[in-house]
Formats: sequence, C-alpha cells, structure tokens
Amino acid sequence: MSGFIIINKKIPEYNKSISVSGDKSISIRWVLFSSVANGISRAQNLLRSEDVLAAIGAVKKLGIKVQLSKNSCAIYGKGIDGFRYKNNLKINAKNSGTLARLILGLLVNSTKTIKIIGDKSLSNRDFERVAEPLSGFGAKFKLKNNKNLPLLIKGSSDLKPIKYFENRGSAQCKSAVIFAGMRTSGVTTIKAKKSRNHTELLCKYLKLPILIKSKKNYDLISVKKIKKIKPLNYNIPSDISSGAFFITLTALCSNSKLTIKNININPSRIGIITILRKMGVKIIFQNKKVYKGEKKADVRIVSPKRLKSINCPSKLNSGAIDEFLLIFLVAAKAEGISCFKNLSELNEKESPRLKWGAKILKLMGIKTITTKNSIKIYGNPNLKINKKIIIKNYFKDHRVFMTSVIAALSFGGNWHIHDKDAINTSFPNFLTIINKLKK
Ligand code: S3P
Repeated sequence: MSGFIIINKKIPEYNKSISVSGDKSISIRWVLFSSVANGISRAQNLLRSEDVLAAIGAVKKLGIKVQLSKNSCAIYGKGIDGFRYKNNLKINAKNSGTLARLILGLLVNSTKTIKIIGDKSLSNRDFERVAEPLSGFGAKFKLKNNKNLPLLIKGSSDLKPIKYFENRGSAQCKSAVIFAGMRTSGVTTIKAKKSRNHTELLCKYLKLPILIKSKKNYDLISVKKIKKIKPLNYNIPSDISSGAFFITLTALCSNSKLTIKNININPSRIGIITILRKMGVKIIFQNKKVYKGEKKADVRIVSPKRLKSINCPSKLNSGAIDEFLLIFLVAAKAEGISCFKNLSELNEKESPRLKWGAKILKLMGIKTITTKNSIKIYGNPNLKINKKIIIKNYFKDHRVFMTSVIAALSFGGNWHIHDKDAINTSFPNFLTIINKLKK
C-alpha cells in the first residue's frame, strides 16, 4: 500500500446529498451465511472493499462458487456441510478481523488443518480471544505466540456445546461462537455484553434456531444445530461507519448541511449519533424503514453553531467503537473538557487507536491526558492550525487515514497524509465523495 495526499485548505461550505458504500459488517456476514446456504444467494450494494473481497476469496478457497458482476454478487452455497478443500489450505484474511474471527466459527468441524494468515496489522491482533471459546467446542488451534496469526485450526467431528461469557463487547467473538453453535448438537448458550447484532438479526430473518433475551447490559443467546439455511437475497444498507466521516465533517464545519442516503441505523451501531447529539449536533433520521430486521434511514445533519464537551457514558462505547477517532476530533473543537473511559478495546483494533487519537490531537495542538483505557480532551472552539502535520500510519489503518483527512478539511493546516491506499480496506470511494462535496 502506498500513496499520500496533501491537504492545505479547509473545505468550503456545502449543502449536499450523498450515498456511501454498503455496510462492511453486514457484507462479510452475507458472504459467510450465503456460503453455507442451500442454493444461490444474491446481494446488491455489497461493499467492494478489500475486507469483503478477502471474505469472497476465503469462501472460494473452501470450494464455493462466487460470481461478481458490476451491480450484484451471487454465491452458490452448497449447504451447511458443503465446504470442499485440500489439506493444508491457506486462507488470507488480509486486514479483516471480522472475516478471520467469524470464519473460525464455521471451521470448527473442518476435517483438515486450515491455516489463517493476514497482513501485518491483522497478524498482530488477539486471536486467543476467539480460539479459547472455540476450543471448548472441540476444535484444535495453534497460534503464533499463543495469541496471533498465522494460526492453524483443525476441527472436530464430535463437537460439544459450550456456555460462553463474552465480556468485552466483541461482536466478532460472539458471532464466531454463534456460527460454531450452529454446527453443534445440543444447546450453546452465550451471555454477551451488548455489541452489534447483525449476526443475530440474520439468524432470525433466516428462521434459524436462535433465541435472544435482551437484558439491560447483556444479551442471553442460545443456539442449536442447524440442518439447512435458505438462500439470502439482500440489498445491503449503507455503512454508518463510512457515513460517520461525513457526519463528523459537517459537525466540524460551519454553515453546511448534508443528507446521507439509506444508512443502516441499527441501534447497536449509532453510538456516534447519540454522542454527537449530546454534544449539540442536530442529526435527524428521515424515511425510516425496516429491512430484514435491520433499521435504515436517510441521515440529515446540520452544522452546529457551538459544540459542548461530553463526559461520555461507557455504555455508549460499543455502539461507537469504530468511530472514536472521529468523536475525539469533535471533542477537540468543543467548549470544555471531554472525558472518554473504559476504551482499552480501542487499542485492539487495526492499530492502537486510543494512542492514535491522542497523537493526532497532540499534532493539532490540543491538550489530552491519556491512560491505558481513557482520554481527557481539552477542547478549543477557536482552534486554527497553521503548521505542517505529517501522518505516517505504520499499520496502514484505514480509519486513521480517513480521520486525518477529515481533521485537515475541518481545522486547516498543511497536512501530508500517507498510506492513502488504506481506504481500500473499507471505503474505496471515500476521496471521490470528498471531491463531490468540494464542488
Ligand atoms: C465488527 C465488530 C467490531 C468492530 C469491527 C467490526 C464486526 O470488532 O470494531 O470493525 O463486524 O463484528 P470487535 O468485535 O473486535 O469489537
């Protein structure tokens, strides 16, 4: 990956309507569910990013036919036991934690050893958190340093259900266990801290044997073995995590208005909207609809006159987990001191994002106090940047690159932002949309 861009001008005022690409979490789940369905599943608005292409590459390696055309994608599922592959198969999950962790749940009964590899960032991340519960079912794992990729998985033909307590708020771990539970006789039970629930909604839509009881801070989930999954035709809503870059840009600019069409507003994903509303940003949902269990709407946002600081309740963390770098930028412009706590999971992402947040703000001239899991941000509503800022992004984190672009367009200064190709991970047309807003 390479390339860099220079931004040395704030974005002019705008009043526009845009669309962003399909949701990454739902796109990857659609690929995985379709790969074990009986028959042909088709998707529209599937995200065409490297993470999703890696998911398609993975199921192809497991013997599943995939046809990608300009506007749609078809997956020819061969049923729950339809994977066919040679010994010592290698699957490259590239940058995608969602793919690498979820697919392990589908491989707990593999008859041959499979190796999962990834790029530098993914290889550095924690896979013990998913290997540990999946070992409980009977699958065998070998992890580099007992924690990282590459890893080897060899499934078992005698899977036993588990009782699992997921206490990080990780949808990836929860989903991997749901997938494994779908392959296992008996009842697998999960007590899971609240996190995004796309896997559960797809299971419900497909009428799979899953029961969910929603408690205040946890969900209690039980899953049984499945025999058949019907094909899944799906028009994927647009990604709130991609829309978030433009929501933030509008929150930081003056006199601008923006509508983002057809966005997934699943309540487990809209933490950034709840937080920005508390900080004084007007965001409204128009044309609300429910599609296959997922909520969607057009999101309308108007630049605020002033921004208030926030003492962010930790219960909002999981719903905003991929958006904190952006939320920190808004806090940098707010009146007063903002506090964010219990955020150690941010340092488990594609790169250590809590550290990155503090680093970007420091370069901008904003005072912060950080600990291992918290950050205090001393906002400055009159912030003007006149210096050169260079962002070199060691793990090529897509969200670090795009957040830096939003900061440059909002606060001014002379920004040299490296690793432009990182946008291909989740949002290949990010810069095209920026250019549309500039016109
Ligand atoms: C995701 C879950 C979250 C999120 C990631 C996508 C998913 O990760 O950060 O970008 O699709 O399930 P964790 O499960 O590690 O919290």
